[in-house]
Amino acid sequence: MYRHITTLTEFVVAQEKKNPHATGSFTLLLTHIENAVKIIASHVKRSGLVDILGKTGATNAYDEEVMKLDDFSDKLLFDMLKDSGQVGYVASEEKEEPVCVDKKGKYNVFFDPLDGSSNIDVNINIGTIFSIYQNKGDVLQEGRKQVAAGYVLYGSSVMFVYSSGQGVHGFTLDPTIGSFLHSHENIRVPETKNYYSINDGNVELFEDSMQRYLTSIKKEEKPYQSRYVGSMVADVHRTLLKGGIFMNPANKKRPTGKLRLMYEVNPMSYLIEQAGGSAVSSQGKSPLDIEPQNLTQRVPIVLGSKKEIEKYLTFL
Ligand code: AHG
Ligand code: MN
Ligand code: MN
Repeated sequence: MYRHITTLTEFVVAQEKKNPHATGSFTLLLTHIENAVKIIASHVKRSGLVDILGKTGATNAYDEEVMKLDDFSDKLLFDMLKDSGQVGYVASEEKEEPVCVDKKGKYNVFFDPLDGSSNIDVNINIGTIFSIYQNKGDVLQEGRKQVAAGYVLYGSSVMFVYSSGQGVHGFTLDPTIGSFLHSHENIRVPETKNYYSINDGNVELFEDSMQRYLTSIKKEEKPYQSRYVGSMVADVHRTLLKGGIFMNPANKKRPTGKLRLMYEVNPMSYLIEQAGGSAVSSQGKSPLDIEPQNLTQRVPIVLGSKKEIEKYLTFL
């Protein structure tokens, strides 16, 4: 018998209806992101077959090599956001400056079009991250002011996970009908798994407190288990569903850490907090309270289950 499962679009419409002042503008914006990521997903799936892999030869704002799929996803997301008619400024990790689409547009959107791009070539999970603010003229706002954030994971299934301030909702793409179906209701970060996720290769470069913390969790009666994909979306997704701790800390070569405040750290920290977990940056401060200095700012990040973060903080 046919059993109806709520689609992402239906869900967003229903959520927006709860707000008497809603205009449908947010639904329209999210629908455009949804359509863009479905197209990206289909390209990711075929990326091993078509000649879309390989380097474009160009570098992004961070002097990193840009893969073709990054470029494609970047352009597509930008065009779709523009078409939505709902955006003021759009900023992408792949661009040096934000683009003004319409000064009076309602929302500003930040995105990392393809996260984990070093994993494309080896068939490992990658993702897209987005972060949405009200357009109040100032493009750089604290993460706390996000009105919504989310990510898409191109994994064994394609998942769309987002929050607009009322919990975290997960949807899985049914490729046979092309719809994201509500599969994960009100996601909460569990305290159950003692997973730790960090690029251990940098251990000698980490600050003393981080080294002591890592040594300590490996010496526990039930030692922590290591899990590290190297795609933030995949590592945070696992942390959201299974619990544990994910870290991209400062190190001697990168005193501010590797991950970008506006494109990666803020949206993921917002989701983790919405799911009952914690996120901290330098000196245990929430990244969501950092006053951003520039678009390409990087900050250290440690996030995960509440108790794991509390334990980590005792080492600072
Ligand atoms: P991007 O592909 O968007 O540049 O991001 C890569 C990031 C992130 O996905 C991941 O968590 C991190 O790089 C891995 O960093 P390490 O090289 O320090 O492991
Ligand atoms: Mn990234
Ligand atoms: Mn990227």
